[in-house]
Amino acid sequence: MTAIEGPRAAAKAQPRSSSAADWSLTSWRGRTAQQMPVYPDVDAVARAEARLRRYPPLVFAGEARKLKGALAKVAAGEAFLLQGGDCAESFADFTANNIRDTFRVLLQMAVVLTYGAGVPVVKVGRMAGQFAKPRSSNVEKLGGVELPSYRGDNVNGFEFTPEARIPDPERMVQAYNQSAATLNLLRAFAQGGYADLHEVNRWNLDFVRTSPASAKYEDLAARLDETLNFMAACGLNSATTPQIAETDFFTSHEALLLPYEEALTRVDSTSGDWYDCSAHMLWIGDRTRQPDGAHVEFLRGVHNPLGFKCGPSLSTDDTLKLIDALNPANEPGRVVMIVRMGADKVAEKLPPLVRAVKRAGKSVVWSCDPMHGNTETASNGRKTRQFDNILREVTEFFAVHRAEGTHPGGVHFEMTGQEVTECIGGSTEITVDKLNERYETQCDPRLNASQALELAFLLGGRARRRSRRARERRVGEDR
Ligand code: PEP
Ligand code: CO
Repeated sequence: MTAIEGPRAAAKAQPRSSSAADWSLTSWRGRTAQQMPVYPDVDAVARAEARLRRYPPLVFAGEARKLKGALAKVAAGEAFLLQGGDCAESFADFTANNIRDTFRVLLQMAVVLTYGAGVPVVKVGRMAGQFAKPRSSNVEKLGGVELPSYRGDNVNGFEFTPEARIPDPERMVQAYNQSAATLNLLRAFAQGGYADLHEVNRWNLDFVRTSPASAKYEDLAARLDETLNFMAACGLNSATTPQIAETDFFTSHEALLLPYEEALTRVDSTSGDWYDCSAHMLWIGDRTRQPDGAHVEFLRGVHNPLGFKCGPSLSTDDTLKLIDALNPANEPGRVVMIVRMGADKVAEKLPPLVRAVKRAGKSVVWSCDPMHGNTETASNGRKTRQFDNILREVTEFFAVHRAEGTHPGGVHFEMTGQEVTECIGGSTEITVDKLNERYETQCDPRLNASQALELAFLLGGRARRRSRRARERRVGEDR
């Protein structure tokens, strides 16, 4: 598909410092953009863009810089990245409870991983903007009827009718508003007392209480309580130590719908640099990562932390081209390589990429998305993923990094705080027969709250054993 033509956006503030060479806010419009909707009414697109350009930024440049700093620590092996949330957020499922439940499962996972790995966990939600979806096919067929594919709620409607599937630019404005309200709640949760470590026990969701991961979680919460009591006795409490009372929580989404991203990109008055203020971190999908394509062109000019998906077809050549385009100064914390090869392929496909990046001396965060390479169709026709394959891909990812002497920096999950039945397996034993009970995703199958927590425990336990072995080795060497 060709690039969207549209009015040249006039940026009010001009950047003081130089941006990437030959880059402008609209330079992506001269490149081929894959996966872009074709809007029937181009004037309506221009009107929606103009409104978004006037609206306030959703995030601030200083926050994006803070995330970049945190990711630089991940790249150096001193922290771990946890990124997760819905495959696609939706207008229909927009409730405070949904947001809270996803947020608190991420908090629970982060506590479990912090305890296991013994390093800070950087928390990034696929939330407050994850509305645009790339599709393998331009059409969907159901009962002999063929319609244009659903491309996410900020493009067209999920309902299987010809009207719903017409791309509507007003949806971008609705996505902005929903993102603003979601962010408002997330900020309140992260900074307003809900994320206080004294609340760890209360984060356990009712339905998770009956799952095996829950007993482990309560055990961990009890130990954490003891530690907090000890620290309070030493004078460290929520009042004296903000790190106990609040947390940093960042947002991210796939920067797929470029007119939306362009309209929310602003010059930061402090640094004079461009930031895409729709989210703290943006990533490029596996289908839109062509080094000379519009998505790479757009993102190379903004200063947010960026990710790009690394699927099995990614060559070492393109890897290095992408890193050079997105991070010519080799700034730590700028690039996250989100590896999604599939459990059967990662052991073969990842080592050449790791070696090439290492040889070139590039600083990146290596993160594992064990979801997108492990999607399959169940016997009842539902799109699903097996818990065991998800775990196997993460395990292989860690093994590759151990063998190559590099840092497995993080994980990227599609998950929800709801007890849905979309992925098969885990100790709550979701079977194919149960998939229809609560299959609610508008796109890919997500881990439910119990499965997500269970996975965090499995990963945390391994990280704990690894750091214990490393400590013992160090003690042995010191003797
Ligand atoms: C996604 O993260 O939802 C996605 C579509 O991923 P990928 O680009 O890796 O297929
Ligand atoms: Co997905």
